[in-house]
Order: sequence, then structure tokens, then C-alpha cells
Amino acid sequence: MCSVISRVKPVQRALASTLRLRTNADGLNYAAAQSRRFCPGFITGAQPLWVTSRSYCARIATTDGLLFRQLFEVESSTYTYLLADADTKEAVIIDPVLETIDRDLKFVSELGLKLTVAVNTHCHADHITSTGLMKKRLAGLKSAISKFSGASADIHLKEGDKIPFGRHCLIVRETPGHTDGCITLVTGDQTMAFTGDALLIRGCGRTDFQQGCAKRLYKSVHEKIFTLPDECLLYPAHDYLGRMASSVGEERKFNPRLTKTMEEFADIMNNLNLPNPKKMATAVPANLVCGLQD
Ligand SMILES: [Fe+2]
Repeated sequence: MCSVISRVKPVQRALASTLRLRTNADGLNYAAAQSRRFCPGFITGAQPLWVTSRSYCARIATTDGLLFRQLFEVESSTYTYLLADADTKEAVIIDPVLETIDRDLKFVSELGLKLTVAVNTHCHADHITSTGLMKKRLAGLKSAISKFSGASADIHLKEGDKIPFGRHCLIVRETPGHTDGCITLVTGDQTMAFTGDALLIRGCGRTDFQQGCAKRLYKSVHEKIFTLPDECLLYPAHDYLGRMASSVGEERKFNPRLTKTMEEFADIMNNLNLPNPKKMATAVPANLVCGLQD
């Protein structure tokens, strides 16, 4: 569970969104503005239809042969990400949710992907992961999570570890503070980063339970995420306001918490007074064992 600046209910709660690179039909005006922001020198004359259909995620079109899906789970407002090598079909899934396992595996099947790793960015408190059940349904699939999460998994990740899929990979950056075992996963070319709950769009994960520490989170974000290129697109584990992605440059400039001093940040985080997530009592024990309980 993550806090945001304003705990407003999602505007488009009913929208379970999927995003295909280059073909997303939603939010075109905004997407075009973002495209210009990220690619100010982009030449628009040659392929006008292509340009108008460029999505917010157009920046990652520079990664040749990368298939990408952003998927949404309505109840916990969780984003699940599916990345694959378009040629070899090797794939990785990030933060899959138990309730949407059928949807996610249908994508994997329809796209002919070979899902090799299911990774959690941390031990979630607001929903149960589907990695354990997914392993039962997909032979050869391995689960992964930080070695500092306290959770069981086939692969325990640490700083600098690589999760390869075809000619692409995700590289682990440890970003504790929301929990001890939070990681951010960065694509090999540093055009995308999956920040879990360490950094949300214009917000961040709460730091008042699960070994949370505001100053540690502040340090993690500034040293491990804000040091990525400004153009690097950021994909969080949640958003409650219908926003799908941000960028390092944007958050460095506009994040209302992380632009403060460390002391001011700690003061904000220590006075949020949020209720515990509804599913916390069941989600945390389940997620310590890949979402499967005895
Ligand atoms: Fe969390």
C-alpha cells in the first residue's frame, strides 16, 4: 500500500488499462505533448499518423525489439508490467497480482511469450502477489525478490544483479525506505525504471510500517533514481489518479515531497497518519511465501 499526496479515489477506477508501445489510442493530446517534451528535435513530417499515435511511452520506442505492456489491477490500483524480447519471446513480469493472474497469463499465452522470471519490487502490504500460483501454472518460471525482503523466492536479488530476457535485461538498484527490501528495476539502456513504491508519480510510498524509514527512502530516491537520465521513464507500482508514467526529470522538478530537504521530507512522512491497508494482515504473510499460504 502506498500513500500519495492526496488520497483521492481513482478517477477512472473502472479502467483496466493496457498499453502497447506506439499503438496506444488513449490520451493522444497529452501523449503528443509528452513526445515533444522528450524528443524536442523529433521530425514530424514523414509519418504523421505515426506521430499522432505516439503514446506517453514513446520514449521507449528507442529500445529496439522490446515488447512492453502496462497492466492495471483495479482494487489495489497496482500496475503490473510485462516486458519481453520481441524476437526470442523471453519475458519478465513485474508485480503481478493474484486477482489478475488469468488476464496476465492470457497475454503471455496469446503473445507466445516464454515467461522466465516473475519479480516483485518488494513485499507488498496491499495485495497478494500471483508469483507463487503463476509458478504452478507455468513450468520453469522463477520468482524473484530482494534478498532483504525476508520473503522466500527462487532468486534473491541484490544491487547490480541482472535479470536477462533475450537481448534485454533489468538491472537491480536497491531503494530501501518504504521497506527494507524495495528495489528499482532499470532497463539496460536506462530508458525505463520500475520504481515499485519507492517513488510514485508526484509522491512516494509510505514509511510508517514494514521497516519504513523516511530518511532512508529519501537517500534511496536521490542516489539511485534521481541519478538516472532525466529522460528515463518511471513506472511505479501504483497510481490512484489515473497517471501511468513519469520521468526522472519530471519528478526531480515536480515531486512535492522529494524536492524538499531530507528533514522536511521526514517531517511530512512522519505525519501522514494513514490507516493501515485493508488487506495488510493477510497480504504480508502471504507475500512472504510468494503469495501461497499453507
Ligand atoms: Fe508497498
